[in-house]
Amino acid sequence: MNKKNLIDYKEHWNIIYSETEINKLGWYEQSPKPSLDLIKKCNLNRDAVILDVGSGATTLIEQLIKECYNNIIATDISDIALQKAKERLKQEEAELVKWIVDDITNPDYIQELEGIDLWHDRTVLHFLTEEEQKQGYLSTLRNLVKPCGYVIIAVFSFEGAKKCSGLDVVNYDYKMIADFLGDEFKLLEYFPYTYIQPSGGERPYVYTLFQRVHPDIILKNQ
Ligand SMILES: C[S@@+](CC[C@H](N)C(=O)[O-])C[C@H]1O[C@@H](n2cnc3c(N)ncnc32)[C@H](O)[C@@H]1O
Repeated sequence: MNKKNLIDYKEHWNIIYSETEINKLGWYEQSPKPSLDLIKKCNLNRDAVILDVGSGATTLIEQLIKECYNNIIATDISDIALQKAKERLKQEEAELVKWIVDDITNPDYIQELEGIDLWHDRTVLHFLTEEEQKQGYLSTLRNLVKPCGYVIIAVFSFEGAKKCSGLDVVNYDYKMIADFLGDEFKLLEYFPYTYIQPSGGERPYVYTLFQRVHPDIILKNQ
């Protein structure tokens, strides 16, 4: 994607985060329970590297800090979102997190990270409607997630909204996410989840958990 598009999306999301109180956003969750339940299943060490992509101002970050994870990276295209996320935390908590403003589909900085134990995406992938954006996302994920690392992706299901925040979305089921990630990522679990917005609206999502297959296993099966 060219830089013009990057600037457009950045502006779009910055306007949304500047004009809306965090707890009124149509994706705000007081408790990120479905994500936390899946993260528990990964049985990660407390120093595991957790990358939350399109992190926005999610409450997941403070929950992970409470659970003593100490290698958290929050990245988003919107600097205002990350600024607001930081402001929700105590200074010493915010300092425990790496905050990176970047476009997940065409990154300038996060490419330099490596050895991600867990890639967490709640409601970002479904905004990528162009093949180039999806391939950019996938290539970032493949470069960063380490062998046997985990991937959690939660997006609008087929029953879910067709638009969000004025943008078109792609609706998914677990099979489409599995096909998108390819054979290198083994589906461990999936479930439907109806998220209730602060306004009371229902938003059906599908949650998925994958584990990257170790390269030796792929070679043995060839
Ligand atoms: C619906 S919000 C979800 C935020 C957060 N994951 C949560 O659960 O509260 C989608 C987020 O994706 C971010 N986003 C959209 N496109 C992005 C991109 N190409 N790269 C990085 N972040 C992006 C937006 O700024 C926004 O914060």
